[in-house]
Amino acid sequence: MTEPRKCPVVPFDHNSPGHSADPVASYARLRAEAPVAWTEAHGGYWVLSDYDAVFAAARDDAVFSSGRSPYGGEGLANTIPKAPVRLHIPVELDLPEHRSYRKILNPVTSPAAVAELQPMIERWTTWFVDQVIETGECDFAGVIGVPAVVTLDWLGLDVGDWRRYSRALHSVLADSPGSPAHTHAVEVDIPWMEGQITVAIAARRAQPRDDLISYLLAQDVDGTPISDDAAYSMVELLISGGVGTTASLVSQTLVHLSRHPDQRRQLLEDPDLLARAVEEFLRAFSPTQALARTVTQDTEFRGCPMKRGDRVLLAWSSANRDPGQFEDAEDVVLTRWPNRHTAFGMGIHRCAGAHVGRAIAKELIGQVIRRMPDYVVDEAGLQTYPHQGVNAGFQRIPATFTPGPRLGADR
Ligand code: HEM
Repeated sequence: MTEPRKCPVVPFDHNSPGHSADPVASYARLRAEAPVAWTEAHGGYWVLSDYDAVFAAARDDAVFSSGRSPYGGEGLANTIPKAPVRLHIPVELDLPEHRSYRKILNPVTSPAAVAELQPMIERWTTWFVDQVIETGECDFAGVIGVPAVVTLDWLGLDVGDWRRYSRALHSVLADSPGSPAHTHAVEVDIPWMEGQITVAIAARRAQPRDDLISYLLAQDVDGTPISDDAAYSMVELLISGGVGTTASLVSQTLVHLSRHPDQRRQLLEDPDLLARAVEEFLRAFSPTQALARTVTQDTEFRGCPMKRGDRVLLAWSSANRDPGQFEDAEDVVLTRWPNRHTAFGMGIHRCAGAHVGRAIAKELIGQVIRRMPDYVVDEAGLQTYPHQGVNAGFQRIPATFTPGPRLGADR
């Protein structure tokens, strides 16, 4: 930064322990005092925290780029600091390249395609709940492995490795750089995952199967067969996008419903309410809290002078709690409608897997409240992710409930 900034400079860091202790309160303060502000953390970045600012930047993809660039260091362009992973396609592409890859994903993530995945989602959810249902106690963090297993099964990767994939991608975003867990992820688990995906791509090139990796490898990009590297970048993004986010949504929802048994009862008595309730859980809990962009040209945004190369954080979670946009924004209102939340992002990068995430969340929350209707989370044993800057949620959720019968066949 060479010149003083004319807009508010705030002591804010979305990766700090202070912010993670209470992200909702931290963003509420920022939104009220300085919804477009500059912070010196991580080499400096703008943070946008009201609905209008987040909406405007997300829709202006020509100025607020998602592409990789040297600004802000090496690595994943949509996090601050940048995470040490390979290129993710299409989330790190700008137009026009973005469109060429996004259209490959649309047919396999449409409502009709997700309806075909539904039996697999139900089967895995039943299996996970069956593992604990007779015991009367569990850690829900294990039960919410469903999104990971469904994503790996769909792709055609080994479902037995779900914990390792989850840990690898989650750790690079949710553990602090320099911590033993982060270092282990970067030095051991990420290279292991890269090896698994690379081997699977080579195997499907040689012998396609009925799985998503084979589908991706059969696609053209503007008339040219997709490269192995591009397919890799899409597979890694699908795992990264598919695994942690939905688990985070369900983890926060299960804790909320333990604290609000009246709402749990409402959902049990009126299962049709679940679809709207899931949108409200997405709004209130925003599994993906905030993602970044890079400014492509000097511009003025809400009176603030932004410079080419400036990094910008779009706080989806804060936009979702903006009282200017949502009545009773701090309350979880199961019937809220319309609900124009930003939990899946906005603009051209709006989540490709939204229907998949919703379908898994509905099945998992639905089965837990039907099969464990009296579950109680042990609040003293709850453990949140070490930092909540990108993915918010719980990594330990001990609970007790009245035991019930298994429903599925053993695998
Ligand atoms: C509750 C669950 C989910 C949440 C909260 C979520 C959140 C998001 C957000 C905020 C974005 C926007 C990224 C940006 O603007 O930079 C995004 C994009 C994306 N998500 Fe999700 N996601 C979820 C589930 C999934 C699932 C299940 C998949 C895949 C199976 C997935 C795949 C993707 C992909 C491929 C993109 C990039 C889209 C593009 O660049 O065009 N997501 N997601």
